[in-house]
Amino acid sequence: MTELLVAEGLELAYGEIPACRGITFHVDQGEIVTLIGANGAGKSTTLRAIAGALIPRAGMIRFRGQDITRLPSYERTRLGIALVPEGRRVFPFLTARENLELGAFKYRNDKPKVSTLLDKIFAMFPRLSERSSQNAGTLSGGEQQMLALGRAMMSEPYLLCLDEPSLGLAPMVVQDIFRTIRSINAAGTTVLLVEQNARYALETASRGYVLQTGSIIASGPCAKLKDDERVREAYLGGGAKKLFVS
Ligand SMILES: Nc1ncnc2c1ncn2[C@@H]1O[C@H](COP(=O)(O)OP(=O)(O)O)[C@@H](O)[C@H]1O
Ligand SMILES: [Mg+2]
Repeated sequence: MTELLVAEGLELAYGEIPACRGITFHVDQGEIVTLIGANGAGKSTTLRAIAGALIPRAGMIRFRGQDITRLPSYERTRLGIALVPEGRRVFPFLTARENLELGAFKYRNDKPKVSTLLDKIFAMFPRLSERSSQNAGTLSGGEQQMLALGRAMMSEPYLLCLDEPSLGLAPMVVQDIFRTIRSINAAGTTVLLVEQNARYALETASRGYVLQTGSIIASGPCAKLKDDERVREAYLGGGAKKLFVS
C-alpha cells in the first residue's frame, strides 16, 4: 500500500500543558483508519496537529512524501487535507450552498470548477440540494453534519479527517453518516476517523489506534481491536459490553 500520511513521535501541548506524547501512526492511501479513545484522550488534539491547527513541539508529520510538520493549515488544505471539526462548525447565517462554496476556497478563481463540485456534492447529498438556499443554522443536526462533510469534500481532499461525526446525532442518523463516510471512501478518498463511538468506528474502519491519556496504547486491524481486552478495559471501561451489543 502507498503511504499517504505518517505521524512520528508527536508531542502535543497547549502552552505549557502537555496533551499527547509519542504519537506514531500512519494512514495508507485508500484506507479508513480510526483513532478511538475516551473523552479527553487526545483524539481532537492529534487531528488538530494533522490539520495544522496545532504545531507539534516535537515529532514529524509527512503527507504524500512531504514534511508538513510546520505548514500552516491553509497550505495543508491546498495539499489535500480536509478537516471536519468536532461540532461541525457550519456558518449558521450562510446558506447551505454558501457553506459549500467556502469549502472550495482553493478553487475560488475557477467558477466552473466550483459549479461542477457543487453538482457532485448535491448528487451525493440530495437533501442538501433540496435545502441549498436555507440558512445552515436551520438544518437538523444530521443535515449540518452532511453539510460539514460536503464542505470538506468541496476541496477534493486526498485525506478527509473527521472529528466525532456521530456526536449528538440520533442512531438512525448516525447510520446514515457512516454509510456516507464509507461511500466517500469507496469513491477514492482516504479517511482518518476520530470517534468516541467505538462500535461504529471499528465497523467502518479497517485499522485503528486506541488513545488513552495522550498515548497510543493499542493498534491493529479493527476486527482484532474489537476483541482486545485492553481496548475494552482501557477505553470502554465498565460500559464495554453494552457498546458492543448490536
Ligand atoms: N484548548 C485547550 N487548551 C488546553 N487544554 C486542552 C485544550 N483542548 C484540549 N485540551 C486538553 O488536552 C487533552 C486532550 O483533549 P482532546 O484532544 O480534546 O481529547 P478528545 O478529543 O480525545 O476528547 C485533555 O486533557 C484536554 O483537557
Ligand atoms: Mg475531541
